[in-house]
Amino acid sequence: MKMKIALLPGDGIGPEVVAQAVKAVDAVCERKGHKAEYSFGYVGACAIREFGDAFPEQTFKTCMDSDAVLFGAVGDPEFDNNPKAKVRPEQGLLAMRKSLGLYANLRPVETFPSLLHKSPLKKDLVEGADFLCVRELTGGMYFGQKGRSDDGNTAYDTNIYHRFEVERILKLSFEYARQRRGHLTVVDKANVLESSRLWRQIAQELAPLYPDVQTDYMYVDNAAMKLISGPKFFDVLVTENTFGDILTDEASCISGSMGLLASASIGEHTGVFEPIHGSYPQAAGKNIANPVATILSAAMMFEYAFGLVEEGAMIRSAVAASLDEGIVTEDLADGGKAYYTSEVGDWIANYISNN
Ligand code: IPM
Ligand code: MN
Repeated sequence: MKMKIALLPGDGIGPEVVAQAVKAVDAVCERKGHKAEYSFGYVGACAIREFGDAFPEQTFKTCMDSDAVLFGAVGDPEFDNNPKAKVRPEQGLLAMRKSLGLYANLRPVETFPSLLHKSPLKKDLVEGADFLCVRELTGGMYFGQKGRSDDGNTAYDTNIYHRFEVERILKLSFEYARQRRGHLTVVDKANVLESSRLWRQIAQELAPLYPDVQTDYMYVDNAAMKLISGPKFFDVLVTENTFGDILTDEASCISGSMGLLASASIGEHTGVFEPIHGSYPQAAGKNIANPVATILSAAMMFEYAFGLVEEGAMIRSAVAASLDEGIVTEDLADGGKAYYTSEVGDWIANYISNN
């Protein structure tokens, strides 16, 4: 298969980790006779510096012309510490999501046997935890009307949802639940928020169409607790944009390192595959960041963008082998040898080529 892949490494550790994912993709293509054709786009702080725009038109075109986007991270301390900055790197990410219609963000949470001891939670709580967070990505407070009063002392963000937005993300979640263990948890704050009541109403309308899926409803505060007190409860968890942002960071600790978790954002146009850890500026340029989340995002890319499940599995087994063998970056080294980002990338690519 010929695959047009847009590389948007972005800021911070983005370029280093995306480079490792490319090695893995190339190794898979070599073995399976696929042809990956790469193009490059600026996004985030680097795009602001280069073009004065966090998601320039040409990057949008590059994405639209591609079959999949491999994305690193955006963010820069220079902007974080300046609340008055007119353009922000994060706007690039939001513009990308909105313009590509990426309404569904899939963040799978799984545990790796060799890393159970790294989890801040007790081993018996997390062992075998395996669930999919589906976060709505182009609606809610992130994109609702926002503003300030003239005197600057009052500010608001509107948490707005339309029926079509809720319906499409719930339908997708029911489908994923059906393909997994048949259990969907709809997370909301329907005891307080009108937008949540719309979510719950639509979920209750749809549930009878999926009789093979057991559907339950959970308030977001309770879900935050359940994620750490009993994560094995979950199979597919679906929620709105802001709740999903918060809950998926929380859920990412379960595996032991944020550096392990991949994500896929899919919807109307080209899908974007990215690690969930962000730009980690303290580590940028040091060749120490964990590339595994990005490499696993490349596995998701094979699976979701190209329907190539075997190719995804090749990457997953190579990653599992690297963790078992202790070929890990310093976040996972535990006093043992810490490998550089590029060494982990080489090892995984090499494993793919030879197994
Ligand atoms: C994420 C990030 C983004 C978000 C930021 C960088 C805008 O935290 O992908 O979860 O809030 O969605
Ligand atoms: Mn986030």
